[in-house]
Order: sequence, then structure tokens, then C-alpha cells
Amino acid sequence: MNTKLIFADTNEFQTTMLAVFAVDLASGKNAESRPALLTQSSEFADAALRLLGSGEFKAGLGETALIHLADSPNTDSLQAERLLIVGLGKAKDFSLDKLRKGTGTAVRAAKVRSVRELAIAFPKSGAVADGLLPVISARLTARAMVEGAELAEPDWNTYQSDRKDNVISDLFLITEALDEIYKQEVQTGFAEGLIVAAAQNFTRSLVNEPGNVLTPTELGARAKALCDEAGLGCEVYSSDKIQELKMDAFWAVAKGSAEPPALIVMTYEPAEGAPVDAPVLGLVGKGITFDTGGISIKPADGMEKMKYDMAGAAAMIGAMHAIARLKPAVKVMAVVCSAENMPDGRAMKPGDIVTAMSGTTIEIVNTDAEGRLVLADGLHYARTLGCTHLIDAATLTGACVVALGVLNAGLFSNDETACTKFEQTLAVSGEGFWRLPCTDDYRERITSEIADIMNTGKNRWGGAISAAMFLKEFVGDTPWVHLDIAGCAWNEDKKPWLPYGPSGIAVRSIVEWVRSYSAK
Ligand code: BES
Ligand code: ZN
Ligand code: ZN
Repeated sequence: MNTKLIFADTNEFQTTMLAVFAVDLASGKNAESRPALLTQSSEFADAALRLLGSGEFKAGLGETALIHLADSPNTDSLQAERLLIVGLGKAKDFSLDKLRKGTGTAVRAAKVRSVRELAIAFPKSGAVADGLLPVISARLTARAMVEGAELAEPDWNTYQSDRKDNVISDLFLITEALDEIYKQEVQTGFAEGLIVAAAQNFTRSLVNEPGNVLTPTELGARAKALCDEAGLGCEVYSSDKIQELKMDAFWAVAKGSAEPPALIVMTYEPAEGAPVDAPVLGLVGKGITFDTGGISIKPADGMEKMKYDMAGAAAMIGAMHAIARLKPAVKVMAVVCSAENMPDGRAMKPGDIVTAMSGTTIEIVNTDAEGRLVLADGLHYARTLGCTHLIDAATLTGACVVALGVLNAGLFSNDETACTKFEQTLAVSGEGFWRLPCTDDYRERITSEIADIMNTGKNRWGGAISAAMFLKEFVGDTPWVHLDIAGCAWNEDKKPWLPYGPSGIAVRSIVEWVRSYSAK
């Protein structure tokens, strides 16, 4: 999709389909809907008059209606062939995220109609009475609009031989050039949105790959190619280095597979350099390219989903891509621990004891709790590389999905400042993360009778917390944020604004978290 920002009058813009947003002004639970267009063009308002008055269109979030303008009276001055009206829901609930979903809905509605060219008008808050719509900055408006559109465009049907390539070739986002400051703000937001959405789509493309294609070696190769293109430092190591570094927790997982593991280290240095005491951010990702559970093998039902057990790694690789292009004034490293978790003659067994790189001994109680093993060494290694702040992302526990469902991912932290910075990104990223505790009183959950710790909790209760407590053993006093994205990495349900498939969760929030440490 070739996405362009256009400063123009929507009436005069010639296009196959022009999307205009609508909100519902009705308040109160049982009030009749009162849809209103977010445009100041009286011609478009006239064209939609009958539809809006009919009660058929309620401007609910994700709702669309199409009007062919040639068939409408008094629309000669309008240059668009079709008007697509896109609902954003109740006016008072309007937010950046509703707008992101709105542009996504417009793109997907155009795709199913095989339209190749689409224009979307910026919402005009002045179209409704003052105070009815929450105010959003021009920069964030532009950014959310691009993100929503770019994330809605791909369909994850790469492997279907009869797929219909309903691609949108040209997308125009249209707003008036109010003044120079406004123009600049919109341009900045637009450029940021393109970068962040491309990074998130790259993450999604990795998560979408099946385990036989995306092996740890292949993940390493794709990370390397991306770094070469983006000007990032990149080292991809395998079995020898992992053993040399005494990463025995990581190796315990890796050694059960015929596929060699990959330890990927990506580095971003700000061009202007950084003072000696400046923060160095470490992004650590779980990259299990397929999780069978190992000797504690998973049931067959749903096991195919475990190809996305590398979504945390993919999020970090995608985030690094955006960071390379946004150029924050802070050093960032990504450490990705990638392996396949397989049952095999050489695989780790329940009861085995391994010594992590940090020297901590671990009793392996369940080989399916492999993510925390690879991350234990990844987090410790990131500290030895000089990282002063850590964030990890992992499809870590089914328990987190049980606790939070699929709308919020788990958020854990040992540091209020790092955690607050992360939570503050959510207003911009629109992603859902819900904080769960990992205070020291939970430590006894992972205390082993025969080693320092064990890789499961004493029982199933609070399983996501036990996993976080395990990771916490390896971060010491380094400020750390842990994201358990097991429930949010794959969209099982299609939405009007998003297809089935990989979500790319956490990329947007991680990128904003990194930027919050930028000296600029
Ligand atoms: N990869 C899984 C977690 C997962 C579950 C990811 C659902 C995505 C969707 C992880 O390695 C795992 O199997 N965890 C176990 C831990 C248990 C054995 C302590 C789990 O959650 O059951
Ligand atoms: Zn597992
Ligand atoms: Zn796993």
C-alpha cells in the first residue's frame, strides 16, 4: 500500500472512495442513536442526510455504510465516486485508539469491495458542538490514522495458493493545511506512524511463519538482514557461544532439538553518542520457534498454535527496526534467545538440575516451562553487556491468558519508575497491559527443595506470577519490566479493523518506552 498524506479540500479530491468518520452523539443507555459526520463539508453532510436520518446507520465502532455519489442528488461538486461512512462509536468515548480502529475499518471495508484506491478524511472535531469530542493532538491523530490503516491492510494468507490479492494500492489521508505548525505536526505524526506500523507488520510477518520455515537459524538470518538494512549492529551466535557463555538454562531447552539455537544481539547507538552514565536499554525476547512442551509434552489439541511462541522475540526485533529509524538519543540492545522446545533423546528431563549463566541452580520440574529458562540467561546476559534497564516480552504462560483474557497482556515490574514510564506509553500505543504483582512474598512459590529455584510454581495458582518471580531472580536490582503476551500475540477473532492472525502486540508500547528514555 502506497500511503500518502495530502493537504487538500476533501470536496475537491478525486478518488474512487472517500471515507468519512461519524460518531454517535446520543448519550444515555437507551437513547436513540444520533449519528453525526466528522466533516465540515456540507456537501458530504447532504449526501449522507437520508442515510443518517434513516436509523439504519448508528455510527457504532466498526460499522460502515456506502453511498455511491453519482446516485445522490446535489453532489455534483464532489469529486469522490463513493462515500464510505465509518462509525467510531459514542462521541464522548472518542480516543486515539477508536481512530486507529476507524481507519483500519475503512481499509478493510474497501478491501472486501475490491477497491484499489481509498482516501480517508481526517476527523474534524469542529463538525460537532464544542466539548462533545475529547481533543487529540494533530500529531497523534495523524500517527494513529496511519497505524490503523497500515495494520489493517495485510491479510495473513501468504500460504494460500488461491488467495485473492485484494490489496489497496493507494491510500490518501486528507486534511486541510490549516497553518504551518499544524502541517508540521501532521507530517511528523504521519512519518512516525509509517515507521511504527512497518515495524509492527514486520513483527507480524515473523509471527505468522510456521515453525518449519522460521527455525531459530532463520530468525537469526532475518534479524541480521533487517539490521544490515537499518544500520544496526548485529551478532548471531549459536550452540558454541551459548555453551561457552555457560548459558546452561538456555542450552537445556535448545539441546533437545535437531535445529541449532540462535542467540541474537542487536545494537542501536545514537549518532551523537551517549554520556558514560546514560541509560542502556535491554530488550529481551523469548524466541521459541516451536514449543511442543518437550518431554512434558503438550496435548495435541491446539499445539499448532505454538509456532507463535517466538512473538516476544519478534516484537523486540520489530521494535529495533522502528528504533533504528526514529533515532532516539539512548543506546538500546536487543537480546533474543531462540530455540525449539522438542522431546528427544538428548532433551532435558523433569528432575534435571541446570546452572544458569548467573550461577543460580534450577530444578526443571516441567520442560514446558521453557520460556523462563531461555529468558533467565538472556536477561542475565543483557546485564553483562551493560544494560541498565531491562524489558522482556514473552508468550510465557497459559495462566496469564486465564487471568486476563485476550484484551490485556500481563505487565510486571520491580521498579515503579520504569513501570510508570511503560504505563504512560499506553495512551499513545493504545495497547492493553494490566499490571500483576511480583512482590518478594511470592518468592517461596518457586523455592526448590534441592536447587535454588524450580521452573514452575508449587502448584498452578498464580502461574503467571510464578513465571515472573522466576525471571526476577535474574535481573537483580536492574529496573525491569516483564510483558507476558501469551493471550494477545495472535488474533483468533477477526475484527472490522483487523484480520485473523498475528497481532504484533507490544511493538508500539516498547518503542514508546524506549523513546521515554531518550535524552532529546
Ligand atoms: N508457550 C507456553 C505458554 C503459552 C500458552 C503461550 C498459551 C501462548 C498461548 C509456555 O511455554 C508454557 O507452556 N507454559 C506453561 C508453564 C507451566 C508448565 C508451568 C503453561 O502455561 O502451561
Ligand atoms: Zn512451554
Ligand atoms: Zn513456550
